Amino acid sequence: MPIVAPSLLAADFLNLKNECTMLNESEADWYHLDVMDGRLVPNISFGPMIIEFIRKATTKVCDVHLMIEEPEKYAEQFKNAGADILSVHIEACRHLHRNIEQIKSLGMRAGVAVNPHTPVSGLRDILHDIDLVCLMSVNPGFGGQKFIPYTLDKIKQLRKMIDERGLKVHIEIDGGVTVENAASIIAAGADVLVAGNTVFKSADPKKTIAQLKQL
Ligand code: DX5
Ligand code: ZN
Repeated sequence: MPIVAPSLLAADFLNLKNECTMLNESEADWYHLDVMDGRLVPNISFGPMIIEFIRKATTKVCDVHLMIEEPEKYAEQFKNAGADILSVHIEACRHLHRNIEQIKSLGMRAGVAVNPHTPVSGLRDILHDIDLVCLMSVNPGFGGQKFIPYTLDKIKQLRKMIDERGLKVHIEIDGGVTVENAASIIAAGADVLVAGNTVFKSADPKKTIAQLKQL
């Protein structure tokens, strides 16, 4: 069964408490929280203040995806806001190993996110230090985009790298995940599905989450 991580970027923020209640009652495993700075990605979303409120509304895992430059400046703030998992973009980190050590020393699980153009081979020497790879299957910055099919090859390459090393690193797929394409994503070797629009814009979000869990 995959881990299902609805992305609150697609939630109704005027109705955030009810959206959280819905997720809490659903089979969703993690809350996926997208932080954007308007520099690393061409959009601005929300920061630790909002995450602090969300933290109070759930006991589920808060999976924070930082799409920001200089993430080391803010790691502690996100820990204090309630992040359980903190992912930084490889494209934003000149000293990735140092960033990962910082996240872990703060008591969070550490993830590395990679853009569609970034080869997974670049993760080889950091894989044994991390808990999760967030493979972007769209260009980060916006919800509701179309899944880039080549991601399936990247999942297979990454699964092989992880298994060959006997590691237990999650492969999380982020962007354009639907009920229709999720089976092929799992078959390729991913175990965490992020879903924004597919969940929140569906007629019955809880049922959609249950459908994703069935795969
Ligand atoms: C995109 C974000 C995603 C986004 C996914 O930059 O990282 O998490 O919310 O949204 P959907 O599932 O709608 O593509
Ligand atoms: Zn994300």
